[in-house]
Amino acid sequence: MSRRRAPICESKGTGENMPRIAIYPGSFDPVTNGHLDIVERGLKIFDKIIVAILHNPCKKALFSIQERKEMLADCLKQFPNVEIDTFDGLLVDYAAKRQAQGILRGLRALSDFDYEFQMALMNRRMNREIQTVFLMTGLRWIFTSSSIIKEAAQFGGDINGMVPPMVGRKLKEKFRHRP
Ligand code: PNS
Repeated sequence: MSRRRAPICESKGTGENMPRIAIYPGSFDPVTNGHLDIVERGLKIFDKIIVAILHNPCKKALFSIQERKEMLADCLKQFPNVEIDTFDGLLVDYAAKRQAQGILRGLRALSDFDYEFQMALMNRRMNREIQTVFLMTGLRWIFTSSSIIKEAAQFGGDINGMVPPMVGRKLKEKFRHRP
């Protein structure tokens, strides 16, 4: 039996008057200048972006959900059409609940591609109405990742210009109190 696919123009939630909403999901532990670059680029194509922090109790994070939320809110306070939220469970379920048409992800180096491709295809399999949109980060942020930044900060490395100054201070504070 052949499976009929709904043409994109028949998809729900893409009417002319519907605001274009994208979910920008991630761990944001902590937010970096690369993440902020993607939000700014995303705002050129979406009316609203919901930055959604995954609440994953199985993954050990440096910053609590509340701390990550506060840092994001502070860094993005100049954008009234950006909301910060948290989610758990499946991303596509959250996106559908928030009536989003898109999932926004940033691509840096080629090494991101495999994982991102798998995730996007799995998400599409689970919900064909929601499109994953990849944006390339600015060249300046091509090697910027939260994990590398945390590692450098832990051993007193210079992370200036890779994260907003307030996040840099929070990282310093975190590691000052750690053995
Ligand atoms: O910043 P990260 O850690 O690369 O973000 C990964 C994230 C949060 C986008 C991804 O782990 C996710 O969406 N998790 C929720 C569960 C889910 O829906 N997984 C995707 C298909 S199985």
